[in-house]
Amino acid sequence: MEVLEAITTRRSIRRYKTTPVDGKTVEIVLEAARWAPSWKNSQCRRFIVVRDDGIKNQLADALHGLAKDVANPSDGAIRTAPVVIVACAELGKSGYDNEGKLATDKGDSWYMFDVALAMQNLTLAAHSLGLGTVHVGNFDAKKVASILEVPQGFCVVSMTPLGYLDQEPNPRPRKELSEIAFFGKYGSG
Ligand SMILES: Cc1cc2nc3c(=O)[nH]c(=O)nc-3n(C[C@H](O)[C@H](O)[C@H](O)COP(=O)(O)O)c2cc1C
Repeated sequence: MEVLEAITTRRSIRRYKTTPVDGKTVEIVLEAARWAPSWKNSQCRRFIVVRDDGIKNQLADALHGLAKDVANPSDGAIRTAPVVIVACAELGKSGYDNEGKLATDKGDSWYMFDVALAMQNLTLAAHSLGLGTVHVGNFDAKKVASILEVPQGFCVVSMTPLGYLDQEPNPRPRKELSEIAFFGKYGSG
């Protein structure tokens, strides 16, 4: 699949078949994540592959953000997809200079960018292999870190189910290019 085709035909998938995903396939999508660029090539991202149903259910139980009573639409996907990949970041690397000082006025937030690039590589690679994913960010990251025994100095950023699709969603709408892309100066058409 061409890159542009993969970008425009990928959808967030929230219903999965129980068909297993083999280890080689998981390795291919992780390899795509590994090749993503990162701040000073610091490669702060880490990935945890979860196949155990009990752990997947615990992760799904943690799928609430600050509003604990709002259900996450990916709850069922995390429980039923054969694989869940959880993306973590080592803190204190991305966004720092060689002396270990913050390099920009964005503070210690560049790890989010690095993990996002890696996870988008992963989701596009999965899509090109006929597998579904959905970026899931609305969860209690401390709870997930505790479930997966993520060590101090690392945090959990996002997760995705990975599996064969049991739905073919229509594309979600996007803003027009004229609303988001400017030429010369902000706001110029
Ligand atoms: C940073 C981020 C966090 C997201 N968190 C969730 C989430 O917690 N639960 C969920 O069901 N979808 C989540 N999504 C998926 C978006 O809802 C989805 O990408 C968007 O509606 C566009 O749909 P599409 O991916 O099919 O184009 C998230 C997406 C991103 C990029």
